[in-house]
Amino acid sequence: MLPSINPTTTKAWKALEEYYAEFKDSQMKDLFAADAKRFDKYSLIFEDILLDFSKNRVDDKVLSLLLQLAEECGLKSAIEAEFGGDKINVTEDRAVLHVALRNRSNTPIMVDGEDVMPKVNAVLDQMKAFSEKIISGDWKGYSGKAITDIVNIGIGGSDLGPLMVTEALKPYKKENINLHFVSNVDGTHIAETLKNVNPETTLFIIASKTFTTQETMTNANSAKSWFLEAAKDEAAVAKHFVALSTNAEAVSAFGIDTANMFEFWNWVGGRYSLWSAIGLSIACGIGFENYQALLEGAHAMDQHFSTASFDKNLPVILAMIGVWYNNFYGAETEAILPYDQYMHRFSAYFQQGNMESNGKYVDRNGEKVTYQTGPILWGEPGTNGQHAFYQLIHQGTKLIPCDFMATAKTHNPLSDHHPKLLANFFAQTEAMMVGKTEEQVTAELKAAGKSDAEIAALLPFKVFLGNIPTNSILMKQLDPRTLGALIAMYEHKIFVQGVIWNIYSFDQWGVELGKQLANAILPELVNDEKVTSHDGSTNGLVNAYKAMK
Ligand code: F6P
Repeated sequence: MLPSINPTTTKAWKALEEYYAEFKDSQMKDLFAADAKRFDKYSLIFEDILLDFSKNRVDDKVLSLLLQLAEECGLKSAIEAEFGGDKINVTEDRAVLHVALRNRSNTPIMVDGEDVMPKVNAVLDQMKAFSEKIISGDWKGYSGKAITDIVNIGIGGSDLGPLMVTEALKPYKKENINLHFVSNVDGTHIAETLKNVNPETTLFIIASKTFTTQETMTNANSAKSWFLEAAKDEAAVAKHFVALSTNAEAVSAFGIDTANMFEFWNWVGGRYSLWSAIGLSIACGIGFENYQALLEGAHAMDQHFSTASFDKNLPVILAMIGVWYNNFYGAETEAILPYDQYMHRFSAYFQQGNMESNGKYVDRNGEKVTYQTGPILWGEPGTNGQHAFYQLIHQGTKLIPCDFMATAKTHNPLSDHHPKLLANFFAQTEAMMVGKTEEQVTAELKAAGKSDAEIAALLPFKVFLGNIPTNSILMKQLDPRTLGALIAMYEHKIFVQGVIWNIYSFDQWGVELGKQLANAILPELVNDEKVTSHDGSTNGLVNAYKAMK
């Protein structure tokens, strides 16, 4: 079981509060000036991933108190509980075992007295055989043609992971297979997608853990109707629809033969499910061997996370630095900024990962917390972000810790694009840290021939305070193994922070109310009667909609 410790009652928290008062205005550039070895001391290497955390508002004392906080909050035993298959998702009475899905060493992992590895491996074998048939063209559609297009229909964790990974690993994509992802219940999403595919050569993957999600079932039904208009034969559905789910009953009620179902289990959280059958579109898109390499990378990171001492542990260091800004500096958001176009959905993916996991105000004792929990997570790829929101990071009133990431090698070595991209990455993290002083601005303006009066007028606007914290993640190249390790690193960061904040990271009750109310409102939208059962604004909106439509 997870320990239940209010972090604010620990010795380390109190010591951090005291030290914060003294340390808070420390300038990173002074810390660098005082320690020539700061980069070496505050960077870690895992396989082909370098994590540089030296540009943070930390010193040895901050780091050691943060690690002490992790100890006092029972992080070690929490990791053991997670990896050991304990039901740490208490409010849903479930284990949390995405690590079992990528447990390439195959050591037994027990849930309710049963080793889950044989069934994990059996589904992986099923995914391997199926994806090989699709890629080789041996799997034929109803008219005898090979599959050319795959439409993954799912939402949240049943969409974001496969979408993010297949975009990130596009250089590995099989040429004969096109991937499409439909998630939004807005009919536009499926309608626009169906315009580009042919029913004879399209496979629909219906991805839903529960197989009850409104958006997914609506899209799946529309896809089926569209398909049957062409195929005119229910028996053809078996060749064009497969399901990824934990709910065999609902799958067969939908009309998909359970022989075409790829199973996973309730101990796989939706936002941690790309390693499960939910990864089928990945395996079909980039080949099973690459999907397996992704799992292997994640497994290697799992082993690192569960065995490395906290001071050498990448997820632990990232998580604890995040706690420092979130709970002591009062930072409300964190940005993930990949300098890699292939990673353009990475921030969106971890937006769900973080915000659905740690957006909780109730602690593990059922009490309202008195401290901040999960940050708002956001981001876009560099350099686009530089021309959009970096102004606020550099000169706004909010502290925004940022994670920068890039690869040393590019899949597209086109003229000098890559050095330019990386120059921007390095320059931004430097600019954020060192800023620009009044003296520097004055000297620049003088050199540009400005008068004293002009300089005085412009000066305040051109100063950069700097001291903005960044982590830099530099990878050799974006290959499946490295991506697997990177994703697992961020997953574990979320877990560590949930342990510190004493919350349950693996349920998501906060998404339920909106679903319930939407189900209540839906039948009210189909007639012309005036609605009066809601609050004034909701009644007003519903009635205005009815008048406008
Ligand atoms: O948004 C809530 C949620 O339950 C997510 O956690 C999940 O990833 C998503 O809905 C989709 O759920 P399902 O896979 O059951 O369709």
